[in-house]
Amino acid sequence: MKTRMLGPLRVSSIGLGLWQLGSPSWGTRNLSNAVDIIREAIEHNINFFDTAEVYGWGKSEKLLGDALKELGVGDDVIIATKIAGFRSTPYFIRKAAQASKRRLSRTPDLIQYHWPPPYHTPLCKALRGLEKLIDEGLTHYIGLSNFDSKLLARSLSCFHKHEPISLQIQYNLAYRAPENNLLPMAKEKGLTIIAWSPVAKGALAGARKATTRAQKTDKLFKIASSDKKLQSALRSVAEKYNATLSQVSLAWLIAKNALPIPGTRRKERIIEYSNAMDLSLTREDIQLLDEASKSYVTRWGRDYNLLQWLRLVPSPIQYLFIRATGGV
Ligand SMILES: NC(=O)c1ccc[n+]([C@@H]2O[C@H](COP(=O)([O-])OP(=O)(O)OC[C@H]3O[C@@H](n4cnc5c(N)ncnc54)[C@H](OP(=O)(O)O)[C@@H]3O)[C@@H](O)[C@H]2O)c1
Repeated sequence: MKTRMLGPLRVSSIGLGLWQLGSPSWGTRNLSNAVDIIREAIEHNINFFDTAEVYGWGKSEKLLGDALKELGVGDDVIIATKIAGFRSTPYFIRKAAQASKRRLSRTPDLIQYHWPPPYHTPLCKALRGLEKLIDEGLTHYIGLSNFDSKLLARSLSCFHKHEPISLQIQYNLAYRAPENNLLPMAKEKGLTIIAWSPVAKGALAGARKATTRAQKTDKLFKIASSDKKLQSALRSVAEKYNATLSQVSLAWLIAKNALPIPGTRRKERIIEYSNAMDLSLTREDIQLLDEASKSYVTRWGRDYNLLQWLRLVPSPIQYLFIRATGGV
């Protein structure tokens, strides 16, 4: 098994993202093969799973917890979950963590703050609520997600007792803004970068047509899937190794020292993702891919800017909206 460190945790160099389990955005509310997907991942040396309380409004966490129980798998896999940014006080953060623990039927190893809390709420108070989860036995480690570089710098000064070990952000060949500020900062602060949408929801894996709400509402999907220069570079590296496009996209992220967490609704996709752990790209391959994707270093803005608009929306409104839609 190819592994790497996530703070003090040893994890497979590719994790599995579980947004696809029970999610209205992926049309999987009634998914019946969750246990097959989780079993296949474990059998193919993936030991790191990423979920969130808002994925299917708890369904993804529950499906993971139930699958691990059915498979008789205990603490030998590493579970990361996320608490929504609308949980902006220590009280609501604790309540959410307790609910996640119940659905997972165990203590998650890592709890991440899914997106930053709204502007009107005190940032440090919320982050100390996150920090306290460790002392309360609700998680072993904490992390952040979707923080831009300025907010990350401010946030890091809030922690008193426990430092975050990771930062989860969108990072892929068609979204390279993190390279400007966040990656250097994460390196300096010892934070592991967990890369979400590592294959741009399929656009960097060969998908041409958006079929799910998650893909249709993502501008990047359309742009990346029709970018001839980038697709051709991906194809040429893939042909060289008799690999697939997704494997090249994932191997590129590993070469950038990120921990990619691709998602899927299909058991058959797991082996493809898992085999990407064995693909080592040469310096020339990486240069070719860097060159073909260099416009994406600044195309979407120089700093990370995803989900930042949510900070304008008061917590109760975020909560009611996401709850009414059955989660994301
Ligand atoms: N922190 C955050 O804010 C945040 C945001 C988004 C995601 N995430 C996490 O990151 C994980 C992954 O990100 P993501 O779900 O956005 O996207 P992703 O992993 O980049 O893309 C996953 C999708 O790509 C499709 N795909 C893969 N290979 C394909 C191929 N050869 N042909 C066609 N389609 C292909 C898969 O379709 P099939 O289902 O058909 O296999 C899959 O559903 C999520 O599960 C979640 O855990 C976190």
